[in-house]
Amino acid sequence: MKKIHFKTINSTNTYLKENYKFLPNFTCVSSAHQSQGHGRYNRNWESNNNENLMFSILIKNKKLIEKFSSISLAIAACILKLLTSYKIKNISIKWPNDVYVNDKKICGILLEGIANECLIIGVGLNVNQTNFSKEIEDKTTSIINIKNKKTSIFLLKNKLYKLIYKELKKIENDDKSYLEIVRNNNYLKDKEVFASINNKQELVKVIDVNVDNSLKILLHEEIINIISGEITFHKD
Ligand code: BTN
Repeated sequence: MKKIHFKTINSTNTYLKENYKFLPNFTCVSSAHQSQGHGRYNRNWESNNNENLMFSILIKNKKLIEKFSSISLAIAACILKLLTSYKIKNISIKWPNDVYVNDKKICGILLEGIANECLIIGVGLNVNQTNFSKEIEDKTTSIINIKNKKTSIFLLKNKLYKLIYKELKKIENDDKSYLEIVRNNNYLKDKEVFASINNKQELVKVIDVNVDNSLKILLHEEIINIISGEITFHKD
């Protein structure tokens, strides 16, 4: 894996989008600071300088690009393994791409792609940041807020790169063992939530995550599967 680290950059995902042509498969780009870090739906990704882990991995391998639907859940399973190795408890995976600890988000995953050419996996894990902005403070946590002590971002990053590399190799070989971790730690399981279905927010009950990575839900007493979209606890 080729590794690049910046002190500051606009966004590690954007860097890979702009430079993927010249970089090899599995290039990992991290940064201590991002001036335009973004999350899903183009939301801002908040992080103080040098306090959190932010990186992106470039995938150019066609076989893996085709399996993009497995990737965010598989990366979430890697985060769960990593946090477990730091003795953190109560970790769960919120389909399709967040990791929660004690009902608060600790990690977000953002997949972006350039059709048939590459896939970029962006990961933001809150590590040593204690305070977050008003808008997100009630629903956000970090390793320091759980363990009350600082964690080396460098060590965390190297452990996570290894876990992710191993998991991506498994996916390439059609090994979907990450699914068991996702199902056993499914944050949404049995919860009543709002899901966007045909552009309408519907109250549904979550049943499980399917083998094709879609979410199995109950809508008006009928079981349906959704392949993407945001799941919220309140109607907008
Ligand atoms: C989300 O929860 O919406 C996904 C957040 C992803 C944030 C990471 S930080 C590293 C990479 N660069 C970005 O601009 N975003 C991702």
